[in-house]
This record gives sequence, C-alpha cells and structure tokens, in this order.
Amino acid sequence: MTESFAIDVRGMTKRFGDHTVVNGIDLQVRGGEVYGFIGPNGSGKTTFIRMLCGLLAADAGEGSCLGFDVITESDAIKRQVGYMTQRFSFYEDLSIAENLDFVARMYGVENRREAVREGIERLGLAGRQKQLAGELSGGWKQRLALAACLIHNPRLLLLDEPTAGVDPKARQEFWDQIRELARQGLTFLITTHYMDEAERCDRLAYLSYGNLLTHGTAAEVIAGAGLSNPSLEDVFIHLMDSSKDNYSL
Ligand SMILES: Nc1ncnc2c1ncn2[C@@H]1O[C@H](COP(=O)(O)OP(=O)(O)OP(=O)(O)O)[C@@H](O)[C@H]1O
Ligand SMILES: [Mg+2]
Repeated sequence: MTESFAIDVRGMTKRFGDHTVVNGIDLQVRGGEVYGFIGPNGSGKTTFIRMLCGLLAADAGEGSCLGFDVITESDAIKRQVGYMTQRFSFYEDLSIAENLDFVARMYGVENRREAVREGIERLGLAGRQKQLAGELSGGWKQRLALAACLIHNPRLLLLDEPTAGVDPKARQEFWDQIRELARQGLTFLITTHYMDEAERCDRLAYLSYGNLLTHGTAAEVIAGAGLSNPSLEDVFIHLMDSSKDNYSL
C-alpha cells in the first residue's frame, strides 16, 4: 500500500536570474507530522514554502500537496493551507477579533462569527479580543498569527519562523499548541533557527544554498553525520561549513 503524504514533491527548483536558490528539492511529509525546515539565512526555506502554496511559480518540479498537483492546482492548495509569513502581517490598529474577522472574510469562511470566537478560545486569546494587535507583545502577536492561519480550518500549516524574537516561555507554549494541533491531525512544515524547536519536530530537513543536505529524525540526522558524539547543533554547523566549500557565492 502506498502511504499518502501531505506533501510529496520532487525536483522543486527556483531561480532568480542565474542564481538557483532552491535546487531540485525532494520532500515527503506525512499527514499529522511536524516537519522542521532548518538552514542558514538565504538557504531557500521561504522560497520553497512559497512555491509549495502557489505564491511563487516553480521553475521545475512536480508532485502533490494535500493530494493536489503542486504546479497546476495551487488555488485548491491555498484553500486548505494556512501560511504564517516570516513577518507579522496584521493590522496593528485593529483588535485581535477584528483582525481575525478580516481574515475570515478574506477566506469566505461560513459562520464567521463562530469561527472568530473559536479561534480566540482555541489560542487562549479570550479576554484580549478587544486589544489592538499593535499593542501585543511578541508572544501574543504570534498567537494571533497562528489563530489567523487556522481560521479557515486548513489541513496543512506552513509556519515560517513563527517564534522568531519570542521569549522562551512563549515559545514553549506555542510549541505545546502545535503538538496538540498535530495530535488532532494537522500537518506542519515549520522553519526555525532554534535547536530546541528542531528537536521537537518529528522529522527535519537541513538546507544550504538551496540544496537539501540531510533529512530524517533528529537521531537519524545526528547518526548520519559521521561525527563523534555531536549535538544536533554541531551537525548543522558542520554541514553549513562543509557546504560553503561546494557552493561558494
Ligand atoms: N524575489 C526575489 N528576487 C531575487 N532573489 C530572491 C527573491 N526572494 C529570495 N531571493 C533570494 O533567494 C535566496 C533564498 O532566500 P529565502 O528567503 O528563501 O531564504 P531563507 O532560507 O528563507 O532565509 P532566512 O533564514 O533568512 O529567512 C536568498 O539569496 C535571497 O536573497
Ligand atoms: Mg526565510
């Protein structure tokens, strides 16, 4: 029996001018999995995510996302994907509830009022719904962003550095929330620069200069590195250093 993957793509490639920033990446993510996307600045993580949800046209590649063709059916994919961008992108002079209502309208969510109320409750935002988004601390902003990308009931969440600049306790709570949503069947592709977060992923992939250098569980990635008793961070630093020689700018 063939396993059904939430993401199953091969050879995904993006070039800007003569610069190949995503170079033939294959990726398979199982339904309900929390998959980590790790790699230095500029390695192609955001570009890959944008191709996956059809915001950016791929130059080459094929496969499926949520059972839809990743090249030709991007409209269908977008409807079932929640994408949390790397930068906070909400209206700072609208309240939490107003921002969520706006996003629900954009997606044409039925029972909008109910969806907004559920979003507020699910993310522990009750009591703060009238607070302006611009007045929230980093941790609460990220919670609002997560609530917003859940509002249309997606099956896959693409979270691009969702916890950048967030304090350790808020990061931990954010991850508890992610693990709970994954337990309920949601699939996640998450980029992060934090090692503790990489370790909380079911599996992960490491990118450098657009190339996928290693993937697997944290234990598999560590075991495959050929280093003596390394931490996950040691492995990533080693990969980053050795890939520099092959792909100098
Ligand atoms: N629209 C664009 N036009 C030209 N070059 C681009 C464009 N978008 C991204 N790039 C380049 O593509 C490369 C990959 O960028 P990308 O944003 O995907 O990296 P990243 O892994 O997400 O980095 P970070 O960890 O800093 O977010 C970089 O060299 C970047 O400058
Ligand atoms: Mg990025």
